[in-house]
Amino acid sequence: MKIAFVGTGMIGSGLAVNAALKGQDVVLYDVVDTEVVKGTVNKVFDILVEAGAFDRARADEAFANMSFTQDLAEAVKGADFVQECVPEKIELKHSTYRNIQEICGEDVIIASSTSGMFPSKLSEGALYPEKIIVGHPYNPSYLLPLIEICGPHASSETLDKACEVYKAMGKEPVICKKEVTGFIVNSLSWGVMDDGIQKVLDGICDVEDVDKAIMYGPGLRMAITGQLLTMSMGVKGGFRVMAEKYGATAARRPEQIPHYPEIEDGVEAEIANRSEVQGQNLDDITKFRDKAFVEILKLQGKGF
Ligand SMILES: NC(=O)c1ccc[n+]([C@@H]2O[C@H](COP(=O)([O-])OP(=O)(O)OC[C@H]3O[C@@H](n4cnc5c(N)ncnc54)[C@H](O)[C@@H]3O)[C@@H](O)[C@H]2O)c1
Repeated sequence: MKIAFVGTGMIGSGLAVNAALKGQDVVLYDVVDTEVVKGTVNKVFDILVEAGAFDRARADEAFANMSFTQDLAEAVKGADFVQECVPEKIELKHSTYRNIQEICGEDVIIASSTSGMFPSKLSEGALYPEKIIVGHPYNPSYLLPLIEICGPHASSETLDKACEVYKAMGKEPVICKKEVTGFIVNSLSWGVMDDGIQKVLDGICDVEDVDKAIMYGPGLRMAITGQLLTMSMGVKGGFRVMAEKYGATAARRPEQIPHYPEIEDGVEAEIANRSEVQGQNLDDITKFRDKAFVEILKLQGKGF
């Protein structure tokens, strides 16, 4: 699969390295000299080799899958997918899409790495607006698998294709069905940040204790089973019995007692969709979780 990365700073280089490691045909385009781009890419490979992700031979092999150009047409012609990673300026994004769509026509999907712009804004005035979506990575993009796809105006074929491309790059796509500030995960993490700041300002705890409370508690759980599955696992019977068992306070939204059918069904779907390695029933998931905790605790210097 040919994937073009347009803009190759921190985000573009990281994602391009991921794609190349999975054997994709990767082209990097930037306005800066290709030697500078190669330097940025090599820094990412150095970080990953030093962190023990793989050896130098694998890095060299992946680097050989990458080509570098300052010619946009050469980069995007025949591409299956374009990941746009230029600076967060709307005029620049618009002109970049126009140039790409004039070269490629309507066939290519363009996914923007933007953290803060909605697809409806990005696609304003475009030749093929329905082919412009958001594919938002999470920093450090070369390590974290998450990509948030947002494209409420795009067809289901476009969204499916985007998921397929990201999976082929080794990423984990999730779909944000509506245009909301912070998409899914920044708004979740801002909620934790805002509450953490407030707890310090209110004299409830120190900064370090906010962070420790997350690192040695819910952060570990969230890494293995997210938040909704984690909460469901905490009660025998999960969300289906939570309200009856713990009442309005535990359910947090008294007006929705006794049930959250979407959450109950969603947790069951999540369990069924997990990989066999991670477990597809509660017993197996719990065993996997406990093993994972032991490994993370060892890394944190908290082994037994
Ligand atoms: N940095 C983050 O933590 C982060 C996280 C998620 C998403 N994002 C988003 O990713 C995008 C890129 O951010 P970044 O941090 O990699 O920026 P960056 O400044 O590190 O890289 C931008 C790159 O785009 C290049 N560029 C500038 N004009 C160009 C043009 N006309 N055509 C092609 N390339 C051009 C620059 O030379 C540079 O290499 C932004 O939309 C940002 O919001 C950033």
